[in-house]
Amino acid sequence: MRKNIVAGNWKMNKSLAEGIQLAKDVNVAVEAAGALKCDVVVAPPFLHLTEVSKVTGPKVSVSAQNCAAEASGAYTGEVSAAMLQSANIPYVIIGHSERRSYYGETDAILAKKADLALINGLKPIFCIGEELSQRDSGKYFDVVGQQIENGLFHLSANDFAKAVIAYEPVWAIGTGRTATAGQAQEVHAFIRKTIAAKYGEEVAGNTTILYGGSCNENNARELFACPDIDGGLIGGASLVADKFIRIVTSF
Ligand code: 13P
Repeated sequence: MRKNIVAGNWKMNKSLAEGIQLAKDVNVAVEAAGALKCDVVVAPPFLHLTEVSKVTGPKVSVSAQNCAAEASGAYTGEVSAAMLQSANIPYVIIGHSERRSYYGETDAILAKKADLALINGLKPIFCIGEELSQRDSGKYFDVVGQQIENGLFHLSANDFAKAVIAYEPVWAIGTGRTATAGQAQEVHAFIRKTIAAKYGEEVAGNTTILYGGSCNENNARELFACPDIDGGLIGGASLVADKFIRIVTSF
């Protein structure tokens, strides 16, 4: 059966010293929490990755927030999937809406990133989600269906099975306007159905689908209780160890 995961996306926050401290605090809290019903992932900025890896134990995995769409070479400022693998980073977030909207990352670019992540043994946390106008005009199923199809459906079933999906409606990110459990479950069920149509029920049933967008310690329990919501990708609330742990223990 599929795994539950709670992942903290720190975005561009925390100095190196602050990031190490946060990772230590999360690690201590996870160890103290005993048996958990989910895997725990933290996604600090690139600069912090190796230091955070050193201070986290086996119960806290580390993720990059992005990787390059090219394998290597003259791409100033980029970090490749191979470099992440060489630093023993197991996960990489791909296609976050902030990458899509501020850095022009198209479905085609994101498909290349997913390929490179998988070639290098990384697990992609692949983000999809509609903007407010697309929600309001009722096009959200089409949008998320296209994003997953264009970004991932070129993969073999074997490779697709290594990916985690994160549904993050753009209108809910950083706005305090969480999708209701009903709204999120509706889209998660649609995503799983879309995966089943392409790869079959078994792959779909084993795919972890996370919800992201103003998920916090107060609403996580209701969201995670939904049958097709397998955890969360947490922004703001992952920057405070105590809040993050309360989300982790919400299952
Ligand atoms: P917030 O939890 O701050 O809304 O961010 C969600 C997100 O974008 C996680 O990737």
